[in-house]
Formats: sequence, C-alpha cells, structure tokens
Amino acid sequence: MNCLQLLFLKHNVLKPRSSGRAYEVLRRIKHIKNPVGAELGVFNGNLSVLLLSNKIDLTLHMIDSWEGEGAGYIGDTEDSVATFSHQYMNDIFAKTMQRTDFAKDRRHVHRMRTDKAHTDIADGSLDFCFIDADHSYEGCKSDIELYRPKIKAGGWLGGHDYDHPKYPLFGVKRAVDEYAQAHHHRLETGKNYTWFIPL
Ligand SMILES: C[S@@+](CC[C@H](N)C(=O)[O-])C[C@H]1O[C@@H](n2cnc3c(N)ncnc32)[C@H](O)[C@@H]1O
Repeated sequence: MNCLQLLFLKHNVLKPRSSGRAYEVLRRIKHIKNPVGAELGVFNGNLSVLLLSNKIDLTLHMIDSWEGEGAGYIGDTEDSVATFSHQYMNDIFAKTMQRTDFAKDRRHVHRMRTDKAHTDIADGSLDFCFIDADHSYEGCKSDIELYRPKIKAGGWLGGHDYDHPKYPLFGVKRAVDEYAQAHHHRLETGKNYTWFIPL
C-alpha cells in the first residue's frame, strides 16, 4: 500500500461522508417496520454504517466484490476504484466488516459481483435497492434490470452519481433516464447526486 492509499484509507474509512445519501434513503424507509434493503457497491461501508445505525430494524444486503485493479468490472468511466490494489481492497473489506460488526445479525455480506449476487436475493423481497457499483452505462443498466424484480411494490429503486459533474464519463444518468422513460416511472433526484424511482 502506498502513502496515498494509506491516507485515503485513514480518512475515508474512519469518517462517514455519506450523510446526503443516507438521508435520502432513510427518509424513504423510516415508516417501514423491519425493512430489507440492498446496497450495490459498498466500498468502505460509509453508507452501510449510517443506514444500519440510524434504522435499527433494517436488514441490509451489502454487495461488493471488493476486487480492485485488473478486475475489469468497471467500464470506461475512469472510476478511481479500478486503480486500487487487491491488497488495498482486502484491507477496505476487513475495515468494513469491523465497522458494521455492531449490526452483524442484520447485515448479509455478498463478496461477489452484482451480476452474480442477484441470484441470492428473492424476487419481491426488498424495500429498496441502492445502486452504486459499476457506474458505466452498461453496468448501471444491467444492475437496474437485474435488481428491479427484487423490489416489492411500494419500494424504491435508487442509486448514486446521477449526473455528477465530477464524473462526466459515468453513464448513470443515461441508464436511469432511459429506464424511467421506457417504463413510465417517476424519477426523483435528491441530495448528493442520488436518484430514486418509486415502484
Ligand atoms: C463508489 S463505491 C461505493 C460507495 C458506497 N455505496 C457508499 O456510499 O459509501 C463503488 C464500489 O462498487 C464496487 N463495484 C464496482 N463494480 C462492481 C460490480 N460489478 N460488482 C460488485 N461490486 C462492484 C467497487 O468494488 C467499490 O467498492
């Protein structure tokens, strides 16, 4: 691990900075008793920690392959996660497990790619699915299509990095807009470049 990665690990693992996304998810599920959700792309667990600690009856599927460089799962998006080493991602995984240990009875960890993990999740079982993994157009489109059937009627499909100005190569907006339009869904956007579709 180089100095830059060490610095990133120290500052990002220990300091939750996902309050905007957590706020947007939590306000949509606060009235639901014992909700079940999925987060696709967990990384250091910043969002998972906030969701699990602020909604103490939440069960969360945490889906991430924690692979790092060379995995080839990230399309042509210049996503920095694809540059991290395997060792670094192993360390991130270990820290994430520690950070969410307080909710170990309510977390289901799937260390695999999203296009494999979907078979572990029953159709119509989720109150929400938050997509924040492969930000390429193809990756986001595939996650939307694979996880849409997992969500209950009245639940939420959503995610991060919708039209984020810092990441012009991300294809999230195109994938989400196309899906919402094709299925005549209302699209809501929220804090921290989040998007949500009520189902
Ligand atoms: C931006 S980070 C997630 C941040 C997290 N949702 C949060 O709010 O704190 C993206 C993560 O997605 C994972 N990822 C990317 N593509 C993936 C795929 N196809 N399957 C599984 N995980 C993937 C990466 O390993 C990385 O940890």
